[in-house]
Amino acid sequence: MERQQKTPLYEGLLNHINHSPYQFHIPGHKHGNGMDPDFREFIGPNALSIDLINIQPLDDLHHPHGIIKDAQNLAAEAFGADHTFFSVQGTSGAIMTMIMTVCGPGEKIIVPRNVHKSIMSAIIFSGATPIFIHPEIDDTLGISHGITVRSVEKALSSHPDAKGLLVINPTYFGISANLEKIVRLTHSYDIPVLVDEAHGVHIHFNDKLPVSAMQAGADMAATSVHKLGGSLTQSSVLNIQGERISARRVQSIISMLTTTSTSYILLASLDTARRYLATEGSKLTDRIIGLAESARRKINDIPGISCPGKEILDNNAVFDLDPTKLIISIKELNVTGYEVETWLREHENIEVELSDLYNILCIITSGDNTHTIDYLIGGLEKLSSEYYEPGKNHSESVRVQVPQIPTLSLSPRDAFYSETEIVKLNESAGRISAEFIMIYPPGIPIFIPGEIIEQDNIDYIYKNMESGLPVQGPEDPTLTFIRVIRERKPII
Ligand SMILES: Cc1ncc(COP(=O)(O)O)c(C=O)c1O
Repeated sequence: MERQQKTPLYEGLLNHINHSPYQFHIPGHKHGNGMDPDFREFIGPNALSIDLINIQPLDDLHHPHGIIKDAQNLAAEAFGADHTFFSVQGTSGAIMTMIMTVCGPGEKIIVPRNVHKSIMSAIIFSGATPIFIHPEIDDTLGISHGITVRSVEKALSSHPDAKGLLVINPTYFGISANLEKIVRLTHSYDIPVLVDEAHGVHIHFNDKLPVSAMQAGADMAATSVHKLGGSLTQSSVLNIQGERISARRVQSIISMLTTTSTSYILLASLDTARRYLATEGSKLTDRIIGLAESARRKINDIPGISCPGKEILDNNAVFDLDPTKLIISIKELNVTGYEVETWLREHENIEVELSDLYNILCIITSGDNTHTIDYLIGGLEKLSSEYYEPGKNHSESVRVQVPQIPTLSLSPRDAFYSETEIVKLNESAGRISAEFIMIYPPGIPIFIPGEIIEQDNIDYIYKNMESGLPVQGPEDPTLTFIRVIRERKPII
């Protein structure tokens, strides 16, 4: 634990700036002296003084051998990994690295369909063939969860030649599958398990939370330190362990995907966030769990609003949950999550993490306290008095709609590089999409390139757009048109 008090990268930076070297290298603002004075004033001298690049004393993220290497080694120790790679390209960069490490053109990767767009981007870059597993759909909450051991078993026995299995654990909403069992099963086929751990950096540091990817024995995990672990936005880690993955290959691939101008502000924030998590993480998360559980109880007392907890565990796709995520179901108020998000912004000055048709999601972190929790509860109470109509049987009037998963007819890469044309979205049923369409956040695709468009999906897109939810992805931001694979008509 004493070793975890050290922050070699951050200390190395401080050491360097204490010598006040005359800088004749980029960044050209040189401590802010060469930049817009307003912004310099706002950002402040400390941040500007460590906005440096990979000069010799500061090591190089592309070939770590000094302070970055030492910091990554301490992070590996903290996360229970054999190697940790720092990412300044967010978890998206770490995810692309995982996939491109294990998959080449034409090789199979088993993935749940409700994946983040970075996973589909990596599948296009690598030319891999996705084998989709249907995530479990929760008809009560109207969200998708993780994958079950049974569905993994089916996918592995049909595709024992897959080069990897990717699991989202925990999901955006904090739900975990039985990851240990999934890992054991997948390893019995000698297939590596890659985990999208964007929403689970903190779970490693408290045994009241679901098991982390490294604890479950997964081979690789892309983990957003910036989302819930206290580092700055865009900074993440890629952890690996075991013999199935070569650390050298990971290093060369993450390097291919990373800027050569790596931000030392981000890197230092990773080094210090790791110290904070390793030394204080357990205590901090205990406090957060307490705060979140008290918020959950109070929310469940508000008419028309509910917040599920451990009672929804089912030993299956909902094997465990992270109580610090508050899934707040508002469907009984007969308004959409998006309307609630806007109402809370305009009337209560509250910003939520995300909204969908039926829920809002609020995250509780070590940045919260009883005041922020009470403020949220107060806002939700006012929301309920505005919208809740006593006596009305709301739950019966709500029909949860989740999108159908379309059939993949071309590999995403082939579709992406095919000849295409533009057609009206409302006339596109039956055509093959050449674009991604997703709702962001959370960035889960409704269509990926290569999938056959069905009327159901078109209706779902319109429903989300009518509710004001952010449907994104296509070239035409109004979504009047969609790019599809060109059909070749016979020449008469
Ligand atoms: C499930 C999931 N995976 C990956 C990512 C990508 O993380 P980042 O924004 O750090 O690139 C996100 C971001 O929201 C996500 O929700």
